[in-house]
Amino acid sequence: QERTFIAVKPDGVQRGLVSEVISRFERRGYKLVGLKLLVPPTDLVKQHYADLSSKPFFNGLVDYMTNGKAPVVGMVWEGPDVIKQGRAMVGATNPLSANPGTIRGDFCLSVGRNIVHGSDSAESAQTEIGLWFGGKGEVVDWSFGNEEWVISAN
Ligand code: GTP
Ligand code: MG
Repeated sequence: QERTFIAVKPDGVQRGLVSEVISRFERRGYKLVGLKLLVPPTDLVKQHYADLSSKPFFNGLVDYMTNGKAPVVGMVWEGPDVIKQGRAMVGATNPLSANPGTIRGDFCLSVGRNIVHGSDSAESAQTEIGLWFGGKGEVVDWSFGNEEWVISAN
């Protein structure tokens, strides 16, 4: 089964939107297989956003994620096409370009305060899950009792 890394960033936690984000994935039918709340170490965030290290906003981005004014909620979600679907549910990077109905399109206004993160490819999902949930048993395999009512065999 496909898995992706979704995080509620400090602004989303500060604004009380953790349950909103969880609830959207849960109601869609996706399965929560990893969940933690933490002020992430600087090294972790620098690795997480390594591809943006040359951007002018990089230091501000790392500070916003790590300064401890609010924690991050990291999650691993599992299910059909969850990487691409998760990105669609999160919406465009700039909330002013994000469609209504997406998390960013419904709850935020600024690219520097866009409340949520979603892995953008199978490769980044695997890397990010390893970074944020590297410890033994931090991602849990379990089965929905009602799976046949959510996902058909064909
Ligand atoms: P993530 O899901 O957080 O990875 O966002 P994304 O994949 O939609 O965008 P990208 O990976 O390109 O950028 C990562 C994060 O950097 C964004 O979510 C923003 O928080 C921040 N960011 C990107 N571009 C800008 C920018 O132009 N200005 C500022 N201040 N922040 C930016
Ligand atoms: Mg990204």
